[in-house]
Amino acid sequence: MQHIPVLLKEVIELLNPKDGQVVLDVTIGLGGHAKAFLVRIGSRGKLIGLDADQNNLSLANEALAEFGSAVELHLTNFSQINELNIPKVDIVFADLGLSSPHIDDPNRGFTFREDASLDMRYDQSSGITASELISSLKEDALANVLWKYGELRTSRRIAKIIKESDKVDTTFKLKECIEKSAGYKAKHIIPQVFQALRIAVNDELGSLEILLSQVPDLIKPGGRIGIISYHSLEDRMVKQAFRKLSEPEIDPVTGQIVKAAPFEIVTKKPIVPSESEIEANPRARSAKLRIISRLAD
Ligand SMILES: C[S@@+](CC[C@H](N)C(=O)[O-])C[C@H]1O[C@@H](n2cnc3c(N)ncnc32)[C@H](O)[C@@H]1O
Repeated sequence: MQHIPVLLKEVIELLNPKDGQVVLDVTIGLGGHAKAFLVRIGSRGKLIGLDADQNNLSLANEALAEFGSAVELHLTNFSQINELNIPKVDIVFADLGLSSPHIDDPNRGFTFREDASLDMRYDQSSGITASELISSLKEDALANVLWKYGELRTSRRIAKIIKESDKVDTTFKLKECIEKSAGYKAKHIIPQVFQALRIAVNDELGSLEILLSQVPDLIKPGGRIGIISYHSLEDRMVKQAFRKLSEPEIDPVTGQIVKAAPFEIVTKKPIVPSESEIEANPRARSAKLRIISRLAD
């Protein structure tokens, strides 16, 4: 299986892991970025890795076996991070969204290129599938999901056709509904509908919100947080959270600084992949990397 970690050179250069440091990778995936962190932090360092997907965690476990006790993996959603009693770390890294095996394995229901059961869960042991979500939502609520997470202007029409169809429990049945509703424009709309349902099924924005509120407390002074996002909804949330963390607290009456900003922004503009990276790995196309650094207490 070929796996190319996105923006790897930039992630390592800007997060700059050093010998003996502790790194928390909250989306370990296949362990691509983690491996590069481990090479830098060495056997005196520690890499704590999380993933909500059992298959990916097993693949990461195999890929990182050579690093022995420097690796500690947990099967968990990163929204549960506070339950893990993680010590203060030097680096937190997140590479959001789905991974290559999710797209390549038609049985997971993430891809519209193959017919499969409409699942879309990262954690297949809990929660409801995309098909169950469609059945459980009223037409209005489904339209709202498509509008909010897929930014689809034709969300009402698509939701109507989906709800009027017989049980939409496969990727191809969903694709047919979109084709029926959007005609020749369907090609562009299908990925947006799949994205919207995937975000809703996995409560991706809810999890990200929790992550953004909890990881700042885990970072040691001088430590860094790096997040790669793949669509504007996520990137907006990361940008706003990072901006807030890098602003001092101002007294509204005197206008004076009452508390210095705990972080500073490292990437004034998000780092995006080069043309050559996109050519080698088209899935990197929409990636945006943002980094902040914790100031000394
Ligand atoms: C883009 S991949 C990470 C790839 C990884 N950086 C690598 O180089 O192999 C994202 C991973 O995050 C996982 N994931 C997505 N949302 C998650 C969440 N809320 N909590 C934990 N893992 C999550 C997915 O299952 C997937 O394995």
